[in-house]
Amino acid sequence: MERHDSHDPAVPSEALRIDAGHAQVEGPAWDRALGRVAVGLERLLEARGRGTVGFLDLGSGPDAHDLVARCRSLVAEARASSDLLVVLGIGGSALGAKAVDEALSEPFRGWDDGESRWAVLDNVDPDTIAALAARIDPGRTTFNAISKSGRTMETLAQLAVFEGVNDEADGPFAPRVIVTTDPTSGPLRAWADERGIRSLPVPPNVGGRFSVLTAVGLFPLTWRGHDAPGLLAGAAAMASRCLRPVGDDNPAATLAALHLAHHPARDVAVLMPYADRLKEFGSWFVQLWSESLGKQGPDGHPFGWTALSAPGATDQHSQLQLFLDGPRDKVFTFLRVLEPSGTDRAIPAAPYLPAQLAGRTVAELLEAERAATALALAHRGQPSWTVEIPRIDARSMGALIMLFEAAAALTGLAAGVDPFDQPAVELGKRLALERLGGR
Ligand code: PA5
Repeated sequence: MERHDSHDPAVPSEALRIDAGHAQVEGPAWDRALGRVAVGLERLLEARGRGTVGFLDLGSGPDAHDLVARCRSLVAEARASSDLLVVLGIGGSALGAKAVDEALSEPFRGWDDGESRWAVLDNVDPDTIAALAARIDPGRTTFNAISKSGRTMETLAQLAVFEGVNDEADGPFAPRVIVTTDPTSGPLRAWADERGIRSLPVPPNVGGRFSVLTAVGLFPLTWRGHDAPGLLAGAAAMASRCLRPVGDDNPAATLAALHLAHHPARDVAVLMPYADRLKEFGSWFVQLWSESLGKQGPDGHPFGWTALSAPGATDQHSQLQLFLDGPRDKVFTFLRVLEPSGTDRAIPAAPYLPAQLAGRTVAELLEAERAATALALAHRGQPSWTVEIPRIDARSMGALIMLFEAAAALTGLAAGVDPFDQPAVELGKRLALERLGGR
């Protein structure tokens, strides 16, 4: 497959902009929202200064450079003995790499991807696991077991199942595993250290859903042939923009303030990416926004947004009816890509085609549909704004990831909730283990 490097001319992260034309907020309400975000920014800077929040610094510095080099050398080693990478993980340990891979890959790129074939198990669905187990040659497969905590039962079960699939003829399992986990703690770390298994660290101050720019995403994405330095460069440029004072071209602050200004009246946050390549990014956003912000608020009341992804124009034929005539409880973030990655096709005249379409391009049609959807929502009093990126490439994906991570962090900190924990999820885990133990 095509290999990339990051020496092509930079897309300045400044090229990403937010068009807030249909935001429907101004005056004192907007000033109040910005004021809250300024408090959130102070809290974020403090936490970063204390070293408890690490995601903003992943794109730059010697650690980033060393990590890229380590990922490249592990990929070279793995390729010598494998034709397939199986990523074992769930949630923040799987979604980010899937989102970036989809964005940076040719559409319809499939299983037959030559040396960069991969499969990501983001679940413990027996059908998927059985299909994968039947399909792979374990002796020619590298397994990347990814778990920040090192104790997520789904991921550990996936690992144990594939260790079981491996038999004597395949040779020993351990040399074909690469573990990505906390540098010192957790059962996966202990197992890797005891068995001398190759490993990559997840910085302790970077949580699962903020970890795609650590080894969690960078190793599998390097295996896939994507431009890891480009991703990091785009993220670093965006991080410095998101640390600027509120009101001084800080797009994360703008995104946070737009959401807060309409909250709690509107507590459903809809992302509408108008690009097939950003559909998985929509799933990544849903996890980031839901798990970071759905918390008990400082006043003891429930806080947060129900996050949805509704890719356009596809979901104009699915969810848009609800968005227009259903409950007025939503805010909409459109993602617009200014320039397609491939050739934009002209739509030839045809007898069955509305005359307005003839001679237009597919990109023009898609953009007309996006702009019209924003307008239709505005007519119904539904606020929206648009994040515009020049094109989909490694730098703009790094920038987009950093923008949404910083916006989630600022929104939570502004509202007095901790965007980096997920206390409620623990209850489900405990109850599942109790059910299994009670057999
Ligand atoms: O964002 C989070 O922290 C979670 O969604 C985790 O990514 C998910 O639960 C998997 O956790 P871990 O990486 O510890 O296996």
